[in-house]
Amino acid sequence: MELLKQRIREAGIARTEEILDVSTFFNAQVDARLMQAIGDDFAEHFKDHDFDVFVTVESSGIAPSVFASLAAQKPLVIIKKSQKVMDDPRFVQQASFSFTKGNAYHLTTQLEFIKGKRIILIDDFLAQGSVVTNVETLLHKADATLVATGICISKDYQPGYQKLSAEGKDVYCQVHVTALEPQTNAIHIK
Ligand code: G4P
Repeated sequence: MELLKQRIREAGIARTEEILDVSTFFNAQVDARLMQAIGDDFAEHFKDHDFDVFVTVESSGIAPSVFASLAAQKPLVIIKKSQKVMDDPRFVQQASFSFTKGNAYHLTTQLEFIKGKRIILIDDFLAQGSVVTNVETLLHKADATLVATGICISKDYQPGYQKLSAEGKDVYCQVHVTALEPQTNAIHIK
């Protein structure tokens, strides 16, 4: 997606060889016009997919997925990250771990929001692919199906995109970053 590529080139910061800082326009200061364009692009890409609901995982996935929901006219469910194990049949949970942030949490949502639905996951970054895998496991617990995944920025130098593609998953990434050079702030985009 050209506009997102352009913004990453202009304002992205290669913090390390792994971490791309997009906080000035994407996930701290949020450029709503960019988010709208991102949402329109997802809606266009997924227009022929047979699905009921978008889901995202809090928090940076929320902005792009709200616009995708609006553009595609499909509901959106925000999956929360909870520290608590909930002993309540109205909720479904899946234990998860963020390799990027080094923290553990439980993906949590209300069963009634997703039960039996056909679902597209939208998220901001794809790194290891663990969020996609854990969301799919969570959905299975609710007899729901992960139809496809839409990612804004795939970091192709980390294993997520290759792994999910090799598993035959339908994954659409708006931008593929292939390498970061923190010394020169070179951001390589495919
Ligand atoms: P994985 O699913 O691909 O394995 O990803 P992992 O859990 O390792 O990391 C996902 C979280 O880390 C996401 O935050 C994502 O936004 C953030 N993240 C991963 N790589 C980068 C990066 O290069 N730059 C930035 N800025 N963030 C990155 P999150 O779960 O959405 O949490 P939140 O911070 O939005 O609350």
